[in-house]
Amino acid sequence: MEATGRPALYVCSVLFILTEINSELIHIPSLVHHGVEGEPLLLSVETRFPLDKAEIQGTWSHTKPSGTRTTLVTFTKETAITDMMRRNHLHFREPNVSLRIQKLTHDDEGDYDLSLNIKFLNKTGLVIKEERTVHVTVDVPVSTPVIKKSPSNAVVEDKANVTWTCSVERGTRVVFQWLRDNVALAHSDRYHFSKDNSTLLISPVRKEDKGNYHCVASNPVSQGQHSRTVELNVYYGPYNLEVNSVQGLRTGEVFTINPGELVYFECQADSNPPNSYVWISKSRNTTEVITEGPRLEVRSYRLAQAEEYLCRAFNNVTQKQDEAQFTLVVASLGTGKEKHTQDGSPVSPLAAIIVCSLFVIGCMLLFFIQRTCHPKRVLMSIYNRPFSEQKRPHRSAGHEDATEDFGIYEFVSIPGKMESAQPSCRSLARLESLQDMHTTIYDVIRHVPETPSHSLLM
Ligand SMILES: *[C@@H]1O[C@H](CO)[C@@H](O)[C@H](O)[C@H]1NC(C)=O
Ligand SMILES: *[C@@H]1O[C@H](CO)[C@@H](O)[C@H](O)[C@H]1NC(C)=O
Ligand SMILES: *[C@@H]1O[C@H](CO)[C@@H](O)[C@H](O)[C@H]1NC(C)=O
Ligand SMILES: *[C@@H]1O[C@H](CO)[C@@H](O)[C@H](O)[C@H]1NC(C)=O
Repeated sequence: MEATGRPALYVCSVLFILTEINSELIHIPSLVHHGVEGEPLLLSVETRFPLDKAEIQGTWSHTKPSGTRTTLVTFTKETAITDMMRRNHLHFREPNVSLRIQKLTHDDEGDYDLSLNIKFLNKTGLVIKEERTVHVTVDVPVSTPVIKKSPSNAVVEDKANVTWTCSVERGTRVVFQWLRDNVALAHSDRYHFSKDNSTLLISPVRKEDKGNYHCVASNPVSQGQHSRTVELNVYYGPYNLEVNSVQGLRTGEVFTINPGELVYFECQADSNPPNSYVWISKSRNTTEVITEGPRLEVRSYRLAQAEEYLCRAFNNVTQKQDEAQFTLVVASLGTGKEKHTQDGSPVSPLAAIIVCSLFVIGCMLLFFIQRTCHPKRVLMSIYNRPFSEQKRPHRSAGHEDATEDFGIYEFVSIPGKMESAQPSCRSLARLESLQDMHTTIYDVIRHVPETPSHSLLM
């Protein structure tokens, strides 16, 4: 029972040690190195076992990209034998097993294999073999790239191709990138890149290719190096020709203007270089060039006669032209519109007219009223009543007071014109009681003593 149990236990413990320590015995922080040519490189190794309790034996060997394999160092804990040809070039570090390359050259590229046997100096006498591979590339930092354009001058849209080249004086494994107005450019129907992106062919060139170009060069040991910016100028157009006017009334291609009004028309088109413009009148049977330039000035008195005009834009570099035709109709657009177009304040003139006419009407009305019913009379009759009503208590008291009051009235109101005023004023002066008074003042006086209860008392 015991005999069979022991070996099983040993195997278990060995397996445990193996799996437990295997991942920890050596550690290589970086398995890929991008070295810079001329600079040292340390292939660093961390030993994670007590070196005093183990014996080690191992090799560093180098495999070039071409496949040639060389043993660089053979070492134990006590000694290290470096390849004769590389004694000054390599430095083997003890007690850990890091390898330092003193001055990197392109030849140092490739895979570095570390093979290490570790024998523990305890009862088990276990030997563990460790193998690691470190990949090393050696690059030259990138110098500032130089950008070139062919052709060097401006090009005509759709007729030319442009080739951009980006080159560096120094640098290995350089990757190029192209940007227009700081936006990275990608492959498309018209954008063709060389394998390493060092050239960009734009074929054919279009309006939208206009802009500022630069290239960026980078490699594993250099941040992106930017070239200077070069402008690409593209001649194009004319596009989107338009005729506009701030005056007149526009409906589609028809402008309606007031007779005698001075109207300006602007002709605009997108073009590089700027277009030359020609204005053509087609009002008569024959076409006739009226003027040149982007602006046309028209003053027409010929009412209700449609005139045809044409603006023609011509780009003398692209040799392309575009034209827009429009019709001019002279018609009265109405005072409101006219006033509106002439001076900026559309409300005030109209308001002034209304106020003026209202004032005139008011004056006339006032005059009419003055003529037909004497205002003094009406006023008087209105005053009459409350005045007499105030005196009411007196009336009731005695006859003598009332007769005295009426005497004053006779003095103020002038008889004579009364008859003519009576019919029209009756409606204005609201008063049944007054009717009695207005017959004549004399009547009132006469009547008061006879019928005091009717008009003065309730
Ligand atoms: C290995 O040893 C060298 C020299 O003692 C030391 O500079 C280096 O840091 C060590 N490397 C590691 C990974 O411990
Ligand atoms: C531009 O390139 C195209 C091919 O992409 C070629 O057919 C054409 O002739 C070139 N045009 C000029 C002006 O070089
Ligand atoms: C205008 O031209 C047409 C032919 O193009 C001709 O028949 C007509 O008589 C001409 N009218 C005038 C006013 O010249
Ligand atoms: C094109 O037109 C501009 C004026 O718009 C003029 O200055 C220039 O000389 C012309 N170029 C050619 C090639 O005709």
